Amino acid sequence: MIYDYLIIGAGVAGLNAARLIPKNKKVLILCKKTPWECNTFYAQGGVATAVDSKDIQSHIKDTLTAGVNHNNVEAVKVLSEHSRECINDLIDNGLKFDLNKSGDLAFTKEAAHEIPRILHCDGDATGRMLHLFLLEQSYHQIISNVVVNDLLIQDGICYGAKYYDEDDNETIVYANNVLIASGGIGSIYKYHTNSPAVAGELQGICLEKGIELKDMEMMQFHPTVFKGTSFARKTLLSEALRGEGAWVVDEDNKRFLFDYHKDGELAPRDVVSRSIFDYNEKTNKQIFLSFETFSEEFFKNRFPNIHSNLHDLGYDLPAQRVPISPAFHYAMGGVKIDLKSKVINMKNLYAIGEVSCSGLHGANRLASNSLLEGLVFSKIAVDDIEKNHFKINKDDFIKKIISYKRNQKIDKKIKNDLRILMWKSASISRNKADLEVALEKINKFLKENLGRLLFLRLLTAKSILESALKRENSLGAHYIKENKC
Ligand code: SIN
Repeated sequence: MIYDYLIIGAGVAGLNAARLIPKNKKVLILCKKTPWECNTFYAQGGVATAVDSKDIQSHIKDTLTAGVNHNNVEAVKVLSEHSRECINDLIDNGLKFDLNKSGDLAFTKEAAHEIPRILHCDGDATGRMLHLFLLEQSYHQIISNVVVNDLLIQDGICYGAKYYDEDDNETIVYANNVLIASGGIGSIYKYHTNSPAVAGELQGICLEKGIELKDMEMMQFHPTVFKGTSFARKTLLSEALRGEGAWVVDEDNKRFLFDYHKDGELAPRDVVSRSIFDYNEKTNKQIFLSFETFSEEFFKNRFPNIHSNLHDLGYDLPAQRVPISPAFHYAMGGVKIDLKSKVINMKNLYAIGEVSCSGLHGANRLASNSLLEGLVFSKIAVDDIEKNHFKINKDDFIKKIISYKRNQKIDKKIKNDLRILMWKSASISRNKADLEVALEKINKFLKENLGRLLFLRLLTAKSILESALKRENSLGAHYIKENKC
């Protein structure tokens, strides 16, 4: 059997693509864990959009400023120009964004946006509501708990993929068109905000096949995650909290961010994360998020889930402030694609959402542009595929298909060492010596008898370090400590 579409991943990009594919097409969606184990599900703040056609220029400008003009301007234009049409399509199909008292869409503000242009659902449950909506709208087959371990690539054509099922058996699936929508790389870092399903294996497969990754040094750290738990996955305290007036303060209640940037809490995300990191390092003071500008009623209504989570952890809100620190959040870099979402030099392989890199986010993603990216670029991919009618001939694929062992005994230790290594060497503040040592260690790990998934994760981590070493000067999220920011 040959599918018309194989979609790898069931977050916003994968599911929105599935929603837009005609019903009569044979589509298979492969999902690494359960469908809601993805970063989309955890997204709190919202979806950015140009409010109307007059706002497009300003949205483009804000995206470029946050991205330190490292962005691909054409990709930014595509994003913003298609934004409202994609949002309207969701609304027309039944997604309910929050409304203001007059019954109009309630736009909120987040850091580095000139005006309020972020839409949200159920207060702070935008990702969850969007994800449920997309799942409900998809009529195509999803297989859960399967992990892709190879792509069948020959002469610029992707014939399909191979995956492990729950019992680690390997299955081959053929498709005329393949969309990689597997998300970023969160589990490569010790502290992150991502779903545990997100570990960068598909980026590793692409590297192995000679497919180019772009901007892999550009890793974004969210400034405000709750510090009080011991898990690797940290609870996000949405940027929208600061957009609505929450403050970042030290132990003495000083709003020190203004010492670093004129916009204080609303400076671009890389600046806020770096400032918190630097201030903590210099003063050794604890950093908090303070809600003293909120009334209890406002807090509960606008951020019901964050309020109830913190309340369950014993916080008296809004009176009490909560300890925060930055954590890994989002990969701006990924599989290099063109403006049709197509992987460079490939005929029928597409990458959409966080796994991809069109250059749209530049050196630092503007808050809430990622759900929008998933929506816009998945639509573009499906439109392109429907126009091209590309079909494979399965018998043309003559390469030997290699079988891999999923795990080895040694994996667990190396996986942990890798997370610590990446957190120490390739996070908010970097230096050449640490990056070089980390790269050397990863090259050593790669010589071990590893399970397939860890091997792929290591390839991806290696590309982050190599890209970071190549960029000798600080730019956006890539900050080299020897230089001044
Ligand atoms: C947040 O709610 O702070 C996350 C939004 C984003 O990553 O764009």
